[in-house]
Amino acid sequence: MLIDWKDSYCTGITEIDDQHKVLIGWINRLEETIVPEKTGSAVWDLLIDFHRYADTHFTTEENLARSSAVPEEAQARHWAEHDAYRARIEEFRRSFVQDDPHAPVLLMAFLHNWWLSHIQGTDQELGRLLRSAGAC
Ligand SMILES: [Fe+2]
Repeated sequence: MLIDWKDSYCTGITEIDDQHKVLIGWINRLEETIVPEKTGSAVWDLLIDFHRYADTHFTTEENLARSSAVPEEAQARHWAEHDAYRARIEEFRRSFVQDDPHAPVLLMAFLHNWWLSHIQGTDQELGRLLRSAGAC
């Protein structure tokens, strides 16, 4: 199912919101590219640029928070979510390399759910903290 961007997804931090829009657009395109049961290293290679962009986005959030007065504890919780995401993506990489036929459907469900939940939850909190720290 494709994701429609909603204003409620905005964090109020333009750089973050612009990157989230790119990521959601990318996930929508991947829904059409990553076909069920088509697995293997060659299919995984189609995802590498997306994963690179996601990593760049995490770094953007981490740099913005570290250069403003976002409490350490909120940062630690947030970066733990990013780390758990990276670990899960590495598990998916192994599943694709091992030709797991379920990997494509499971990956797309994971990307869809994780990004929607993260953008509407933890990233909203980050937006509030950055705005109150005067980061925009
Ligand atoms: Fe985040």
